[in-house]
Amino acid sequence: MIKLDTTYAHCETMPEYAGKVAEIHEMLVKKTGKGNDFLGWYDWPTTYDKTEYDLVKKLAGEIREKADVFIVCGIGGSYLGSRAAIEMVQGMFPKREIEILFVGNTFSAPYIVQLLEKIKDKSVVVNVISKSGTTTETAMAFRLLKQFLETKYGKEEARSRIIATTDKVRGTLKDFATKEGYATLSIPDDIGGRYSVLTSVGLLPIAVAGIDVDAILQGALDAANTFNHPDLATNTAYQYAVCRRIMEEKGYAAEMFVSYETQLTMLAEWWKQLFGESEGKEEKGLLPASVNFSTDLHSMGQFIQDGGKCLFETLFLVEKPMLDMVFPTDADDLDHMNYLAGKSLDEVNKKACLGTLEAHHDTGNVPNLILTVPDTSAYTFGYIAQFFFIACAMSVYLLDVNPFNQPGVEVYKKNMFRLLGKI
Ligand code: PA5
Repeated sequence: MIKLDTTYAHCETMPEYAGKVAEIHEMLVKKTGKGNDFLGWYDWPTTYDKTEYDLVKKLAGEIREKADVFIVCGIGGSYLGSRAAIEMVQGMFPKREIEILFVGNTFSAPYIVQLLEKIKDKSVVVNVISKSGTTTETAMAFRLLKQFLETKYGKEEARSRIIATTDKVRGTLKDFATKEGYATLSIPDDIGGRYSVLTSVGLLPIAVAGIDVDAILQGALDAANTFNHPDLATNTAYQYAVCRRIMEEKGYAAEMFVSYETQLTMLAEWWKQLFGESEGKEEKGLLPASVNFSTDLHSMGQFIQDGGKCLFETLFLVEKPMLDMVFPTDADDLDHMNYLAGKSLDEVNKKACLGTLEAHHDTGNVPNLILTVPDTSAYTFGYIAQFFFIACAMSVYLLDVNPFNQPGVEVYKKNMFRLLGKI
């Protein structure tokens, strides 16, 4: 399903990690490692709450019936996964009636004000998502949305247009939702934000988009079963995890996630959060960066090829694109493009990929790991989400770091609260 090609990355020392990987695998299964109270995602594809899952599907159906616009109000793990899935599976210009917008992920005044302006004549439903319930970006946007809904529909109707996804039992948003009588969905205690796309956090927005969430969970289940063993020789998730560590040991500071489909740009953002927040601690870890080719070959390509040798690339390739067409011939050929006539757009894209691989690896001396998936379907999204969770945990545990906390994120918040006079 997901293939890893290490030919262009020269990870010959991989077998040396087999023993350590087997030890960490044991730690993952027995939940004995650092941050072990946040391993709920590991067997989530079998243990997920079926009643809540049915509620997600029911709510999604109702929202699709009544709303023109569905607003996801959340930040970090509370929105990146659903946005990544929706774009990956449906592309950039989906044929659906309901529009999905994201807010609560920025303090940018023009963004927020424009969004409120854009939705004023639409039928709107809001999903506020925050595990802690206290994230300022999200809480600020939600107050504005709540007041917008109450002014537009009155308090009663507004209430029926808000769904809160938050901690099951505690937190500001939980208390708020209970007092206001909002429909609520829950984030399991043992699953952190960046590991939560397969819970209600991700599944409600994804289902509202009309994507088959059963297929997503089936993909995740198949990945969980496939990578649930300690054998490094055959476990692709662990191989990818180890390759990352080998690259770091060789002196590379950054991993550049490269995709060749525009609809994977948000997947790269999700991947960056997963790896960046999980591993960037104790002055360790690779900087996760991303580019979208061929677009960024015209901006970042030069640096990747010829700049400082600080990075390796991880190509994330799709065998069969969601859509394709044949490039037409032109009788006059004034643009001199007839050499492409009869080829499909995807053939051209794949040749660009091969040419770039050759340039970056052979000429630029940049190592390239290659991950390939068959397509951009819902099933594949679920599969790779679980694949990356497992790979990330293994990779970070190999550094002897807790993959599930994010102590550094608190510092900016404290400073900001001081500057804003929050008591
Ligand atoms: O991975 C994480 O835990 C974080 O990135 C959170 O997802 C992010 O900070 C949002 O937090 P919350 O859902 O509590 O608003």
